[in-house]
Amino acid sequence: MRRVIIKDIGEKKDILTAPFVLEMERTTANMYRLGWDERNGGNVSYLLDEREVREYLDLNRVIRTMPTGFKATELIGKIFIVTGTGKYFKNVQSDPEANLGIIRIGKDGETAELLWGYKDGGKFTSELPAHLMSHAARLRVDPENRVVIHSHPTYTLAMNYVHELDERKFTHTLWQMCTECIVVFPDGVGVLPWMLCGTNEIGEATAKKMEEFRLVIWGMHGIYGAGKTMDETFGLIETVEKAAQIYMLTAHLPRVNLIKDADMVALAEAFQVKYRRDFLDLDEA
Ligand code: 13P
Ligand code: ZN
Repeated sequence: MRRVIIKDIGEKKDILTAPFVLEMERTTANMYRLGWDERNGGNVSYLLDEREVREYLDLNRVIRTMPTGFKATELIGKIFIVTGTGKYFKNVQSDPEANLGIIRIGKDGETAELLWGYKDGGKFTSELPAHLMSHAARLRVDPENRVVIHSHPTYTLAMNYVHELDERKFTHTLWQMCTECIVVFPDGVGVLPWMLCGTNEIGEATAKKMEEFRLVIWGMHGIYGAGKTMDETFGLIETVEKAAQIYMLTAHLPRVNLIKDADMVALAEAFQVKYRRDFLDLDEA
């Protein structure tokens, strides 16, 4: 028996080489370098496959437990790698064990069991309610959803101050800014008004929007994205940010050319995406 335990521990691979840790490092580094996530701005959570985590960690060893402040019954037993609260994205790559944590939602649905990380006594992001509630909402719509990213991309945020915070109008303007937009996020962008961050209330409101959208604007704060992979989720936010950049670079200039709504229909149909037709101004009377 003893020999088996030693063998099991001996066989664990180095967590710092795990693809999911490296993906978190690369993503946060990119977000920092793009200027989206100043200081400790932004947070990332990634639903992991238990079998994959088992290759690196002893899942019976809980370092400590932390209350989450809400009940996530649908996520009991699920394991996430999550950025730490107050941690700077610029530092994740050089010290992943202090800036990231791997948590499992305990049997009561209200406790996070720390399996690795937050080594300086830290804890998960203050936006855990919005992350976990969004994971639960997206998993109901798409069982393959794995990633939730929150960020403060510069132009998206700038656009929040000069454009109406209406999800139909906001989506429509973004779609007009780049040809690919309606193909990349045909489901559009949900918009929430300014709300107090870090609360269960903003978490619940975000998750409600996530039933319908993979992208949710937090008015005058930032954006949430959800997707199956890190690339998909990052790419969604990146595409919104690009469109918002074009908008901010041109909003004060006379508009000479325009991607028409009929062009967007042609795009959506050519790429066979299910798009929010009600977000377009089509003459269909
Ligand atoms: P955390 O440092 O708690 O992740 O918060 C950053 C943030 O962006 C709050 O909305
Ligand atoms: Zn934020």
